[in-house]
Amino acid sequence: MPGLKVLLSRKTIAQRVAEMGEEITRDFRGQSIIFVGVLKGAAVFLSDLARQVPLDSTFDFIGVSSYGNRPTAKEDPAGHAAWDSLGEVRLTKDLDQSLADRNVILVEDILDTGLTLNYISKLLQAHQPRSLRIAALLDKPSRRKQPIQAQYIGFTIPDAYVVGYGLDYAERYRNLPDICVLENL
Ligand code: IMP
Repeated sequence: MPGLKVLLSRKTIAQRVAEMGEEITRDFRGQSIIFVGVLKGAAVFLSDLARQVPLDSTFDFIGVSSYGNRPTAKEDPAGHAAWDSLGEVRLTKDLDQSLADRNVILVEDILDTGLTLNYISKLLQAHQPRSLRIAALLDKPSRRKQPIQAQYIGFTIPDAYVVGYGLDYAERYRNLPDICVLENL
């Protein structure tokens, strides 16, 4: 049976998201921005972050599926559940509007191998936005396969599979208010 262990409490998350909102507000004072969330995981983070940014703003969402980027039944020699990305990202929902000449904040739940955000960043750059910045709530730098520069990072976390606050395991646990490590997968 998988177990849940709190890694980041709702209070800790709320404090950090407020700080990230203040940073974005400072950086874009007097300007309009568009938050682009990556479905589905970033929906919870985006809704909290955007409410900490009292600037003129709009929302859009993009959907991607990254194959294999989930824990598998396979275990590594240390007995940890293994998950890997095959490096294949597919667009499942495109943007509803053009980003030309807009200040874009790309909002993602977790930066893992970097494959997803690399793919999406390239896609968004093709719109020729005025600026493009990345806000990722979590970062697992030890798993990086492609370099990616995120300007706003909430927390750097160890290499563990986490759920809650939008993050899922097989579509479950997204509604947990805390971010938890899923143990004994
Ligand atoms: P990347 O392309 O490897 O950077 O993966 C980013 C995506 O992988 C995220 O948007 C999540 O959907 C998923 N992911 C990576 N690590 C975790 C995790 O620990 N929990 C839940 N989803 C994860």
